[in-house]
Amino acid sequence: METGKMGKGDALRVLIAYYSFSGQTNSLLNALASGLKQQGLRVTLEKIRPMEPLRFPVGTISATIKMMLITFFRHRVAVKDLSSAADKMFDLAILAGPTWSYNPSGPVLSFLDRDGRRLFEGKDVLPLISCRGYWRMHCYGLKKKLVECGAAIPNVVVFAHPSKEPWRTLGVFLKIAGKSPERGKTIGKYYTKYGHSKEQFAEAKRFGVMIGEALQQGKSLAGLNFKTPIALP
Ligand SMILES: Cc1cc2nc3c(=O)[nH]c(=O)nc-3n(C[C@H](O)[C@H](O)[C@H](O)COP(=O)(O)O)c2cc1C
Repeated sequence: METGKMGKGDALRVLIAYYSFSGQTNSLLNALASGLKQQGLRVTLEKIRPMEPLRFPVGTISATIKMMLITFFRHRVAVKDLSSAADKMFDLAILAGPTWSYNPSGPVLSFLDRDGRRLFEGKDVLPLISCRGYWRMHCYGLKKKLVECGAAIPNVVVFAHPSKEPWRTLGVFLKIAGKSPERGKTIGKYYTKYGHSKEQFAEAKRFGVMIGEALQQGKSLAGLNFKTPIALP
């Protein structure tokens, strides 16, 4: 891995390592990355890829229950190596992914076990979480793992689905199982869309601009407010 600081005048670089099962983290990151790029930062998006691709939706109720149970016990999902672009020097890393049964997802856990210390030791790492609404335990566990890798965590970005409970939980479950709750006779009245809203993607872009500005000005990300009513409705 290259080390040391960039030369004067070089664009600041952000490495975004992420896993996304149903596309929500992916869409948030595309928006956030466009905000970073708007500020003149160079962004490397590195997808964490399972050795055996995981299929979304899972397809059946029983397979969904099984997935929720095993992920609760932090089941690891073996992942491929990141590309050599991840080994380049960067000024900030963002580690992003969904909450799985109150934990980081299996691919992110495997990635951290294998590459966490090598990539993140002595670096600033900003976790980004996409979840339906229950993220605190995931956040705590992820921060703990990153600290064990030697990373500094200046702040945390969390986006929760905006739908109301109990429809949000039911909707996510049915969606993972391969159903279309949005079109259901009763649930469809209260649950109109799986995942994050357009407003949240716009908010993710705004966060990207905020992060870019802070990095350009040499300010800590600790002072940024990501806990807005749009991100965490
Ligand atoms: C197996 C599994 C378990 C989940 N457990 C939780 C959970 O404990 N808390 C939560 O808020 N969301 C949970 N979710 C919902 C996802 O975190 C949420 O849909 C997220 O936006 C998905 O992001 P992705 O599309 O990038 O994978 C779970 C999803 C799956 C597939």
